[in-house]
Amino acid sequence: MLFGGTGDLATRKLLPALFDAHCVGSLHPRGRILALGSQPLGQDAYLAMLESKVRPALPAAAAAEVWQAFVARILYLQVDANAPEGFDALAELVRARAAPVVVFYLATGPQLFVPICEQLARTGLNHAGVRIVLEKPLGHDLASSDAINSAVAQHFAEDQIYRIDHYLGKESVQNLMAMRFGNVLFEPLWRREWVRDVQITIAEEIGVEKRGAFYDGIGALRDMVQNHLLQLLCMVAMEPPASLSEDAIRDEKLKILKALKPIELNEVAEKVVRGQYCRGAAAGDAVPGYVNEPAVAPDSQTETFVAIKAEVANWRWAGVPFYLRTGKRMQSRVAEIVIQFRDVPYSLFPRPLDHEPGNRLVITLQPEESIRLHFLVKHPGDTQALQPATLDLQRMLPRGQGNRNERKTGAYERLLLDVIRGRLGLFVRRDEQAQAWRWVAPIQQAWAQSNLAPKLYTAGTWGPAASSALPSRDGAVWHEEL
Ligand code: BG6
Repeated sequence: MLFGGTGDLATRKLLPALFDAHCVGSLHPRGRILALGSQPLGQDAYLAMLESKVRPALPAAAAAEVWQAFVARILYLQVDANAPEGFDALAELVRARAAPVVVFYLATGPQLFVPICEQLARTGLNHAGVRIVLEKPLGHDLASSDAINSAVAQHFAEDQIYRIDHYLGKESVQNLMAMRFGNVLFEPLWRREWVRDVQITIAEEIGVEKRGAFYDGIGALRDMVQNHLLQLLCMVAMEPPASLSEDAIRDEKLKILKALKPIELNEVAEKVVRGQYCRGAAAGDAVPGYVNEPAVAPDSQTETFVAIKAEVANWRWAGVPFYLRTGKRMQSRVAEIVIQFRDVPYSLFPRPLDHEPGNRLVITLQPEESIRLHFLVKHPGDTQALQPATLDLQRMLPRGQGNRNERKTGAYERLLLDVIRGRLGLFVRRDEQAQAWRWVAPIQQAWAQSNLAPKLYTAGTWGPAASSALPSRDGAVWHEEL
């Protein structure tokens, strides 16, 4: 059941993900999708909307008969989150179907989470077979997320609650676990003695598009850092879990969140860069500045870029900078984790002219997935000079696997199937979420107290100049500047 069934998330991500799952036979033949929304649409009008909004973006596989079979699973029902009547009809429908597992995906604003949960409970739709999925942002700070979580917890047990962070569903994030804990090679090196710094970047080329009204009250810290970036940091930094069970992994992630050194109020200006894009060019076209985007306040101070120097204060990582960065309207779309290893203690060889920085492991999540290990080899011929070489671990997979033609499960598809199967491991537990809010709180507070505007950066660049200064103060550079 999709609350927010006419919304952006449902039409751009969730229904396409369900379509993919349908095409490969991952959905139960009797599985139904109930799209719920406040708009008074009839079934035909809803399907017509899907036909124009969802279908064109699907792969060529959306042939007429496949599409028809998919939409035959879908039923639209008008349910207003603040009006009880719709929920009575919904409950009747759900009971009549007697499905063993019922998933309610709340793809709505967080202000509707509590009213929806109350209504579900009132109509008996919170029994053990019911799971609810809560989209981010869950609240806008620790107190508001805590209030929502407590109210939801009155009606649903924690193991019925799936707080989604779609970055955890990405294949390369899964692969990071496999690489770290399925091999002996990396583990001894994965620590302060050998790692100089870690960089985690999620850069987007797009601006806020049509989401100005939503985004302007949120900004990049809440939209990307508190969740996606911190979750990626946990996956890089956590200790090997005792097992792959959901709580074993989540316990380890929580330990990292707790070990994150708090950024004190008076350190925010030095360790955090807050930026906002102004007029520039993206993919060769002139684009407006953030404050000129539709539905954005002309004097908005909302940040569209954040870079942070974080530190994990534990035995493994003490002193290793974790540079986190995210932004909209950046030069290119890339999401990557870079583990920069230290230089050899003493080099016997003449270094390459451009002084390639030794060993680096680059895990790229987007635009294409890859895992590349950079190292130095001998330059061929009568010389002792070294030259950089790259080992592409993804290309080393057995023939037929990992190539571009192989079908990859999308993040939302994987996570939706996990909810249906009752697997909580890739979802964020309440204590993890609270800890992440706790860590970003001083940054929120410092920004709220200061009347300093975000630093402007031209659309289509890598962010404000202060962003380069962040690693360069430690003698490091962002990956693209190498
Ligand atoms: C969402 C944010 O969680 O992630 C968006 O709300 C952002 O602002 C999106 O664009 C990025 O996700 P992806 O998978 O396209 O990198």
